[in-house]
Amino acid sequence: MGPTSLLGLLCIISVLHMIRCWIISVPTTVTAVEGSCAVVPCHTQPHARVIWYKYHNVQYPVVCDELRPYQVEPLFKGRTYVVGKAAEGNCTLKFTEVKMADNNLQIYVWINPDSTATQKFYDKIVTISVEKKFPMIFVQSEILEGSIFEINCSIEHSCPYFPPLFSWSTSQVLNNMTSLTFSAKRGVLWIYRETLQGTATKDMHKTQITCSAQLGSLTTTSPEITLDVLSIPATVKIEMETDTVIEGGSIIAVCAANSNPKPHKYSWIRKQMGNYSKISSTWRRMSFKNITRHTSLSCMAHNGIGVGQSDWMDLIVHCKNIDLFT
Ligand SMILES: *[C@@H]1O[C@H](CO)[C@@H](O)[C@H](O)[C@H]1NC(C)=O
Ligand SMILES: *[C@@H]1O[C@H](CO)[C@@H](O)[C@H](O)[C@H]1NC(C)=O
Ligand SMILES: *[C@@H]1O[C@H](CO)[C@@H](O)[C@H](O)[C@H]1NC(C)=O
Ligand SMILES: *[C@@H]1O[C@H](CO)[C@@H](O)[C@H](O)[C@H]1NC(C)=O
Ligand SMILES: *[C@@H]1O[C@H](CO)[C@@H](O)[C@H](O)[C@H]1NC(C)=O
Repeated sequence: MGPTSLLGLLCIISVLHMIRCWIISVPTTVTAVEGSCAVVPCHTQPHARVIWYKYHNVQYPVVCDELRPYQVEPLFKGRTYVVGKAAEGNCTLKFTEVKMADNNLQIYVWINPDSTATQKFYDKIVTISVEKKFPMIFVQSEILEGSIFEINCSIEHSCPYFPPLFSWSTSQVLNNMTSLTFSAKRGVLWIYRETLQGTATKDMHKTQITCSAQLGSLTTTSPEITLDVLSIPATVKIEMETDTVIEGGSIIAVCAANSNPKPHKYSWIRKQMGNYSKISSTWRRMSFKNITRHTSLSCMAHNGIGVGQSDWMDLIVHCKNIDLFT
């Protein structure tokens, strides 16, 4: 004889004694997230009303009594509701603003408390297990300038009725991003995720972002992430380190570029009276000897993402016989 049929037999005996027997179906544990709401599913036969109690070996502390709310323990006042319909046998309880103090709380339901029937609650105790959750933020480690990228923020919660409210650390660069949300049951909890989607721009490089999730009146914040936007060398230009260029003399020039990562190779093109010559180096600085008139220079910066080239710089070459000391 299984437990169910044994219960059935007990019920028949109870009915013979004119005592109503309630077959109550509740889970043994409910996992809740701090700040979120928690739902304790409960099902029995159609009834008039219920009271939920906290398990205690001598007292009967009230967790939820909608008829006499003043009897509810201070810890639970104003945050417990029977959300199930009594006429449908639904005795489901909802907690709002779950607190760490609710962890390991043991509760049971009493059906039709106004009748004299005795109930066997001790095998129908529900234990509330409270967990603390923080939002997780995620973005790919390297984002290519001009590409579409996503930043995800997600948190687990226990409230099927209300997802958390997300907010992102204010940053101008996120203004043009579109936001998508996703919600699903994951194990005993729900997962809620918000995704920001947009086109990566150079300005976003090194932007620091956090997201915050509001669960009830509790707000928790994710770790901080920093965007790493890879860009091809831009605003490439030649900076001269030599003030005066003398015919036949030499100059030192620097190839400056904005890029992420930094350029790993530089190429220089020297145009001299219609002749082109090209040299490459891993150094930004380059010296050019035997400068003649009508010489132009351009540099190119390479960084693995792409190449950027400077404008042509026409050197102003002074004649050799100019006396520099006058
Ligand atoms: C009981 O009521 C709750 C709240 O309205 C509902 O979500 C749940 O589905 C109901 N349970 C059953 C078994 O109908
Ligand atoms: C964001 O979540 C979606 C859905 O799981 C996933 O496909 C995408 O790769 C995630 N993006 C990032 C940057 O984590
Ligand atoms: C947003 O996008 C519009 C059009 O694409 C652009 O003109 C504007 O500068 C962008 N704003 C920001 C803050 O990136
Ligand atoms: C250009 O190059 C050619 C061939 O190397 C050479 O004969 C000529 O003298 C050069 N002209 C100048 C102006 O350097
Ligand atoms: C400098 O250039 C001139 C003209 O092109 C050439 O005759 C001379 O040999 C060059 N000198 C050196 C040191 O390269």
